[in-house]
Amino acid sequence: MQHCFQDMSLEYFDGNPFEKIGGGFALTTECDGKVNSMTAAWGGLGVMWGKNVAYVVVRDSRYTKEILDKTDKFSMTFFADDDKNSKMLLKYFGAVSGRDEDKIKVSRITIDRYNDVPYIDEGVLVFICKKLFCSPMTKDNYLDKAIYDEYYPTGDNHNIYIAEIEMMLAR
Ligand SMILES: Cc1cc2nc3c(=O)[nH]c(=O)nc-3n(C[C@H](O)[C@H](O)[C@H](O)COP(=O)(O)O)c2cc1C
Repeated sequence: MQHCFQDMSLEYFDGNPFEKIGGGFALTTECDGKVNSMTAAWGGLGVMWGKNVAYVVVRDSRYTKEILDKTDKFSMTFFADDDKNSKMLLKYFGAVSGRDEDKIKVSRITIDRYNDVPYIDEGVLVFICKKLFCSPMTKDNYLDKAIYDEYYPTGDNHNIYIAEIEMMLAR
């Protein structure tokens, strides 16, 4: 039986951050009443300006970027490792753009909210995040230009968003 999400202090976070981020999560945003989720697997967790933060990187071309730039908050939903449905969900969220389909409706998942910020009920761990910093990751700032050339042949740059983790929700 699944239990309801409880809000918890981050001191109870006991995951491996490399596995959590690298295993993929749903980055959920909302603007003008429309909720959208995309799969992300790059980013990190850390401390900045005395705050617990997460950083995510979102390419220029993503619908998520368009929404993120219009909103203060977003959520990161992590799923159970052995949950096959969530693997399918992350595949779908990572292959289709919210510009072309209402991914929430099509996938028939349930959106919950914490202080109005949407997150995915099917997950097991959620970070509610408030943007603090955003910057495009342009070619001139890469010390190893080979990385830029390998990952951005079309100039579809990532943008880094550093956000305070305002709340952790866990089952
Ligand atoms: C496993 C996986 C990880 C991904 N990680 C990222 C990421 O960290 N940043 C990013 O911009 N796109 C990432 N993507 C691609 C986006 O999820 C994909 O382009 C998605 O369709 C964008 O949706 P949107 O247009 O609704 O924002 C990833 C895709 C997959 C399958």
